[in-house]
Amino acid sequence: MKIDLLSPESFASGHPLAQYRWLRDNAPVFWHEEPSGPGFWAVTRYKDVWTVDRDFRNFSSEPTVMIQDPAAEQALGFGGYKMMLMMDPPQHTAYRKLIRNEFTLPVSGQRTPRMNALARQIVDAVIETGECDFVNQIAGEMPSYVIAELLGIPLDDGRELYKLTEAIHTAPEAQDAGAGAMAVMKMFEYGRGVIEEKRARPKDDLATKLLHAEVDGKKLDDIEFLLFFLLLVDAGGDTTRNLLSSGLIALFDNPEQLAWLKADLDARLPSAREELLRYTSPVIYMRRTARHDVVLGGEQVKEGQKVVMYFGAANRDPEKFDAPDVLDLARSPNDHIAFGTGPHACLGQHIARIEIDAILREVLTRLEGLKIGKAEWLASNFISGPKHLPVTFKPAKRGA
Ligand code: HEM
Repeated sequence: MKIDLLSPESFASGHPLAQYRWLRDNAPVFWHEEPSGPGFWAVTRYKDVWTVDRDFRNFSSEPTVMIQDPAAEQALGFGGYKMMLMMDPPQHTAYRKLIRNEFTLPVSGQRTPRMNALARQIVDAVIETGECDFVNQIAGEMPSYVIAELLGIPLDDGRELYKLTEAIHTAPEAQDAGAGAMAVMKMFEYGRGVIEEKRARPKDDLATKLLHAEVDGKKLDDIEFLLFFLLLVDAGGDTTRNLLSSGLIALFDNPEQLAWLKADLDARLPSAREELLRYTSPVIYMRRTARHDVVLGGEQVKEGQKVVMYFGAANRDPEKFDAPDVLDLARSPNDHIAFGTGPHACLGQHIARIEIDAILREVLTRLEGLKIGKAEWLASNFISGPKHLPVTFKPAKRGA
């Protein structure tokens, strides 16, 4: 079996399930060569991914969680500044504490009515036309609006920022030279405007709270704020969008499951949504770096080597899930690892769940005669999902 988990080609129509299967069966901690780097360990079994993600003492998120990130590797990043995603405890704990209260289950839950209203507005915007690109006009709209609401910026600006995240997550070889770096610059430019605006007119929103937040008695400086801003826009954007788009494809590939879900939507949505998360796993990987020599899955990992957790492979591990390649919307228990685990476990997971439910409910109840066309997949070895997905449905009146 040819193993290549670097080329975006391998992810051109979803996760490379055959490669994952071979790896789990034959080399669950596999030394993967890298044409322009030292190589890395690819970890594909659930239990090993779980161990690496939780064991920050042996597996560090510094200097970066990307496989290839030369600037961060040489600490050139942002003059030594980094996002909390790339910090270890106790520093990570102090930064995460600044925003974690905004993302608890009860606080997220309070946003449900507003999110349901946004989902309605999004479907209203296309319902009269009878066709649209599901990825950009429905699935992508939701996280852009939600992040805008959280940060306290105009909804339309949220949409522009979300477009930039796509360039940031697209493989360099699949777009114009420098497009990714340019997108980061534009994001920062916008963030600087937010700093000015929120300092001049503080509001009850996350951006204002962050500007007043302190770590070790010191306020965040502009760069620290901008990195938080980038992380929030980046982490909640195309992840949620891709879950919705790949999830819709999975439902249409399994019509009997879709019919089962629609037969009692409200009661079945929670287990269905968790199974779609497991089955589609929008985040392909997170990388760690070994702090010490350590044995993992029988392999000797040396200090300084890169260790990469493949969430989509772990989520299809037959040792953990019965019939893992079957979409079973009633699956229980379903301890998937699509949101990661341990100190960095997805902070936005409760919000993501509300967004997913809101859109699926609107789409499955209001877009009658919904049909999906051929998806065009995102060229990325980091985030999995379609870039475009044409859909058609029976035109209907707004707000009906
Ligand atoms: C289906 C949607 C989503 C998926 C699949 C997803 C997945 C993930 C994963 C795999 C991680 C890394 C976990 C680890 O290393 O163990 C992560 C981290 C994170 N996610 Fe999400 N995410 C989603 C939606 C969101 C949303 C909506 C937000 C915010 C509004 C968000 C904010 C974050 C943040 C801030 C982190 C970094 C946490 C830290 O470093 O402590 N995510 N997410």
